[in-house]
Amino acid sequence: MYFIANWKMFGGLSTLNSLKKVIKFLKIFKKSKNIKIIYCPPSTLIRPMFKKVINSKIQIGAQNCHESITYGASTGSINPMMLKNVGAKYVILGHSENRESGETDKLINSKIKAVIKSGLKVIFCIGETIGQKRKKITKKTLSKQISIGLQNVKRRKNIVIAYEPVWSIGTGVIPKPDDLINTINFIKKKVRNIKVLYGGSVNPKNINKLKLIKNIDGFLIGGASQDPKKFIDIIKKTYN
Ligand code: PGA
Repeated sequence: MYFIANWKMFGGLSTLNSLKKVIKFLKIFKKSKNIKIIYCPPSTLIRPMFKKVINSKIQIGAQNCHESITYGASTGSINPMMLKNVGAKYVILGHSENRESGETDKLINSKIKAVIKSGLKVIFCIGETIGQKRKKITKKTLSKQISIGLQNVKRRKNIVIAYEPVWSIGTGVIPKPDDLINTINFIKKKVRNIKVLYGGSVNPKNINKLKLIKNIDGFLIGGASQDPKKFIDIIKKTYN
């Protein structure tokens, strides 16, 4: 099971102290061997966080990157090689918050290729908006995101997919269990041998429902991941 913390645009150096609790917990947690913990802080915190989690189970990911693997004139951008250089092992790509600000499936495809070429792993986010859900075009939407996003992508073992319905992110609303089971199965049929995580308002309250959905391979956790107690609670309850 994957437990991925997406801190979004939150956190400064002092926030890193919250990791101590999580590191301590992971040392004594019996199921630690079976889980992967990845923290994706803002880029400013990748290096300092990396230093804090050395010798722990926690790995570091970035939240986005440029589609080129070489240096270049692109003000404000960071490429995957630069992320690797400071300790990142994963990169979140295709997050709906970036799709909303204009990232296309094609651009995401280029980024996925760049990240894999750099030797990093991809957390590939897909998901339908509320409008698409109402129009009953969820599967069509996911299909398009997957087929363009993964076009000509080799080494798919370096990718995990995070299914994140846009209407569920930050809203407290999660999909109905049957819908979720169905959608995850659909994704797994479309992309063979891939891990599929769920993301969208995962918290210590709803984890008891979500953990019953057996085809989910882990969770991408936004808001609740900033609070170490909540994050630990989610992991604990998943195995209770
Ligand atoms: P949330 O965010 O858990 O706050 O809904 C999830 C995400 O955006 O990855």
